[in-house]
Order: sequence, then C-alpha cells, then structure tokens
Amino acid sequence: MSASKKIQAAIERSSWIRKMFEEGNIRKKKYGAENVFDFSLGNPNLEPPAKFKQVLKELADDPEPGQHGYMPNAGFETTRKAVADYLSGYNRPIFSADDVVMTVGAGGGLNVVLKTILNPGEEVIIPKPYFVEYNFYLDNHQGVPKVVATGPGFSLDMGAIEGAINEKTRAVLIDSPNNPTGKVYTEGELEALGKLLTDYSRKFGQPIYLVSDEPYRKIIYDGITVPSIFDAYNESFVVTSFSKDLSLPGERIGYAACNHDISDRGTIIAGMVLCNRILGFVSAPALMQRAVALLLEEAVDVSLYQKKRDLLCDGLQACGYEFVKPRGAFYLFPRTPIEDDVAFVAALQEENILTVPGSGFGGPGHMRIAYCVSDDTIVNALPGFERVIKKFKK
Ligand SMILES: Cc1ncc(COP(=O)(O)O)c(C=O)c1O
Repeated sequence: MSASKKIQAAIERSSWIRKMFEEGNIRKKKYGAENVFDFSLGNPNLEPPAKFKQVLKELADDPEPGQHGYMPNAGFETTRKAVADYLSGYNRPIFSADDVVMTVGAGGGLNVVLKTILNPGEEVIIPKPYFVEYNFYLDNHQGVPKVVATGPGFSLDMGAIEGAINEKTRAVLIDSPNNPTGKVYTEGELEALGKLLTDYSRKFGQPIYLVSDEPYRKIIYDGITVPSIFDAYNESFVVTSFSKDLSLPGERIGYAACNHDISDRGTIIAGMVLCNRILGFVSAPALMQRAVALLLEEAVDVSLYQKKRDLLCDGLQACGYEFVKPRGAFYLFPRTPIEDDVAFVAALQEENILTVPGSGFGGPGHMRIAYCVSDDTIVNALPGFERVIKKFKK
C-alpha cells in the first residue's frame, strides 16, 4: 500500500484525460507528432501577447529591492488595487483592493473560496456537463457535489437547480464561458439564478453563495459579452486566471474576488486570505502578480480562436456531427452518434484523433474537442472525423 485508498481511487476516476495524454504520446512516437491530432487538452496553442515579454523584461530590470520576497498573503496591494479598478470598470459594485486575493491560477482560487465557505458535508450545486476537477476541489474541503441537468443548449435549468436546493446547500458553482460546452450564460439566466438564490437564502436564514469560475471570460465570439454575476447577485465570488486569455497556464496566476456587497464581508475576506496561506500557496507568484497588474486589458488574439471554432464547426457539421455552436472558450461538445461515447472516442483514436469522452464531464453521449490547436491540426483531422462518423451513421 503506497498512496491512500482514497487517492488510489481518485487516480482511477481521473484517468480519462491522463489516458488520452498517454495514448497520445505512444501514438506520436509511433506515427510522428504531425500525424496525431490531439484535441484532448485545454492547453492554449497561442503564444502570450508580445506585451507580456516586454513587461517581464522591464520588471526584471527594476532596481527596487525586495520584489521577490513574501508579501501580504492576499498579494501585492498595487496588483489587487489594479484588479479592483478593472472589476469596477464592468460591474455595478465598486471594488476595493481588499475584495481581491491573488491566487495560484483559477484552480488555486477555487480551492481558496471553497475552503473559506464550506462546512463538512455541505453541498454545492453544479450544472452538468462540468469541469471534472470540481469534484476533487470539493472533496478537498469535504464538500459534496450535487450535479444537476441543464436545459436546451446547456442553458441553466432553474427547475433542476431549485429541486437540488436544501438546507445543506452552501453554493452554486457555474463556469461561463463553459468548459466543456462553450456555453455563455445570458443576463436573463443569471438574473433568474440570483433571484432564486436570494429567495432560498432568505428562507434558510443564511446565504447560498454563487461561485463563478471565469477563466474564459475574454475568449468570446460573435461580438457577445459575458454578463456579470456581481450585478446579478450580492452573495457572489468570481474566480479567474490568466491561464487562457494570456496563454499563461504554466505561470499559475489568477485571482478570486468577492462581491463588494457580500454579507459579512470582513470575515469572508479574512477567510480567503487565511485559506490562500494555509493551503500552502502562501501567496501567488510575485513576479507574475506584478506582471498581470500591467496586462489586465490585454488578451491573445481571440479572432484566431474564433477562426478555429468556425473551421471545426463547419467541417464537422458538413459530415453530420450535431452540436451546439460554442460562443466562448475553446471547446466543442458534440453528440456522439452512438450512446457509448467511450467506444466512439476509441474509434476516433484509431484515426489518431484524440478527444475526451463526455462521460468524464458528466455528459455521456458526447465528446469534448479542445480546439486550442493549430489550424492544420483541425483541417487535417476532418477526413478522419468523417470516416468515423460514416462507420456509425449508415
Ligand atoms: C473551467 C476551468 N476552471 C479552472 C481551470 C483551472 O485553471 P488554472 O490553470 O488557471 O488553474 C480550468 C483549466 O482548464 C478550467 O477549464
């Protein structure tokens, strides 16, 4: 016996993307990397904006001492103030630096918020399909996921959410633009959710929080905007990162912000700061904190992702795949033409096309295609996608 039983079981459960990753490496060695079409990982293929390197160089030359030491656990005051001003620019509440904690990516931020609010055994409602890591993050803090159905086009199903609410409900966790569907929740959906949670918070005499995971907020298409949850509901948190919009996933930088109008704000903030420390992060990476403060308005060229979305959607639609066209993020979640998504994904693998079964996201009968890959990978994979669907759809 080496790792704990719980972790051994978790290794087994979390194995889909890992399996695909390992399979991809085997196939790349055997057939050559250019002949394997790897759509399994959400690792952005665009380089960070040019300004990122420029800022890094300037920061490296900054003679001010002490820039690489510990700082307040919430992060540098100047960075948090810059983020607060940025948030005040597009939300109704006016934020102060205290509302913001700099975190080790969105993953770190989610753990900070969940640890801050969850008592053991409390439930968190998650609309499906959803980002698989949520199960593990909840388990880290003894939270219990309550996964609920979504409506047409993966819209929020208020009936399903209401049906899952009870005295143990501590939060609803949403992700928009969504991984794995690319769905962006509308203002109407968020307002209805805010109203529902207000009613039930009143009924139970304590807030049900809304936690919005938004690392793809800037990766949106067709001129749409992502509505603000801070405007829709006071008892809310936003967690985000620069992993996707600045293509910096390896640099591990993001932030968690609470609504300036949240109840018992002082305790919530003190909790977030403490949790950032005791989860072992202490604080987010210092150099990156200083860099992102100067890059809040920047993003990769999102039109390149929109082009990839269109290449993929047009190509797959032409050969008979069915899907909801994504309005954001860089994932497509088509139906598999057979119920058994694992079998269909295995058939694609025979064509050296690597995708992830929807079952791994609580969405069986689908597959996730991460299209943050080169245009050539998309174009060259289309004939294989067509051959495989033809085998199953006579
Ligand atoms: C929906 C969602 N949330 C959180 C994360 C974690 O992001 P980060 O790398 O910033 O921790 C990801 C990464 O893929 C994601 O897709």
